[in-house]
Amino acid sequence: MSISLTIPKTLDLTAIRREFPILNREVKGKPLIYLDNAATSQKPRQVIDALVHYYSYLNANIHRGIHSLAEESTAAFELSRDAVQTFIGARFREEIIFTRGTTESINLVAYTWGRKNIKAGDEIIISTMEHHSNIVPWQILCEEKNAVLKVIPVNDAGELIMDEYEKMLSPRTRMVSIVHVSNALGTVNPVKKIIELAHAAGALVMVDGAQSAVHLDIDVQDLDCDFFGFSAHKLYGPTGVGVLYGRKEILESMPPFQGGGEMIKEVHFEKTTFNELPYKFEAGTPNIGDVIAFRSALEFIQSTGKELIRRHEQDLLEYAQQQLEKVPGLTIVGKAKEKVSVVSFILAGAHPQDIGILLDNRGIAVRTGHHCAQPLMDRFCIPGTARASFAMYNTRQEIDELVKGLLRVVKILA
Ligand SMILES: Cc1ncc(COP(=O)(O)O)c(C=O)c1O
Repeated sequence: MSISLTIPKTLDLTAIRREFPILNREVKGKPLIYLDNAATSQKPRQVIDALVHYYSYLNANIHRGIHSLAEESTAAFELSRDAVQTFIGARFREEIIFTRGTTESINLVAYTWGRKNIKAGDEIIISTMEHHSNIVPWQILCEEKNAVLKVIPVNDAGELIMDEYEKMLSPRTRMVSIVHVSNALGTVNPVKKIIELAHAAGALVMVDGAQSAVHLDIDVQDLDCDFFGFSAHKLYGPTGVGVLYGRKEILESMPPFQGGGEMIKEVHFEKTTFNELPYKFEAGTPNIGDVIAFRSALEFIQSTGKELIRRHEQDLLEYAQQQLEKVPGLTIVGKAKEKVSVVSFILAGAHPQDIGILLDNRGIAVRTGHHCAQPLMDRFCIPGTARASFAMYNTRQEIDELVKGLLRVVKILA
């Protein structure tokens, strides 16, 4: 008997949309069209169920208790660490540190590795297209240590100018902290090449994976990065959970981030010794329920199929870019060759905020403003953009509605 395995070529969007209860609601009397996924994605039923299950059956503080609930919740929490390890291809489970989000992951590195290793005259490289959370922690560190912050410029298409980056690297470069995918433009940066060049110069690399983890396959060993940070809430998971991946030997050499329970081995007034990895960096009671529910989000992505999701999102990106050209006066900001499903645009005669309000009246949620990337907006000499960002549950019909909404905006404002 032969068994035929049929692998679907496209996503079953009706089935997928059924899994996201929020997509059934209306906004201003219209069906919700949620195109703000780069800010945060919606949550599938199994993530919501995991949270309800945790608080209904498992709730207990982890690692310290010997009673059954404590043991069960500890086991579930640690299973999430294993799931993250697999998801990003880390060599060791103790290289996975749970944080509150990408912001905290980057701050952790800047505060601990940075304060120990950066000295006056050292150089840290970031880029023009960084989110504020990958600018400000390094600015604070550079100010404190009298170090120098260097910035890779961006071309008109919204791509890093790699020649300039190469010229910037020197024996004084200690850290390159770079965004994998721009939240404001959708540009996918050549991080593997960036890491190779940084390592050749003797520098470490922190990758801000807030936007890439949901769209791209992440393999931290293949990338060869030293640190990689991302947030669960942009991966169909709960808010308040992030991950810092760090190379084990580097994490071991770093001082702790926060002091408190869990991160210690022994505390005496004369001397305190610190816990081993990963607990050394997880002071206090973590966000247990949300970390546990994050595993359900990763399972949901895996069972849906990351490659199918990626193909669908690329189709939406191409369709959106084509259709938006039909709107008079609309200019897409960011036309990199390598992009994920994020489209930023401006409309002649219309302030991005007004575009956002008028679209919201039609139930369409887009993000407007500087997208926490003000230096990038300065680079393009604009105060901000309107941004539509697509997830696995979005459809071409929703893009048609966006275009109709924008044509109406043109009639009213332009
Ligand atoms: C590229 C990038 N980096 C960092 C962050 C910060 O993530 P969080 O607010 O989840 O800490 C974001 C959030 O939008 C982002 O898009």
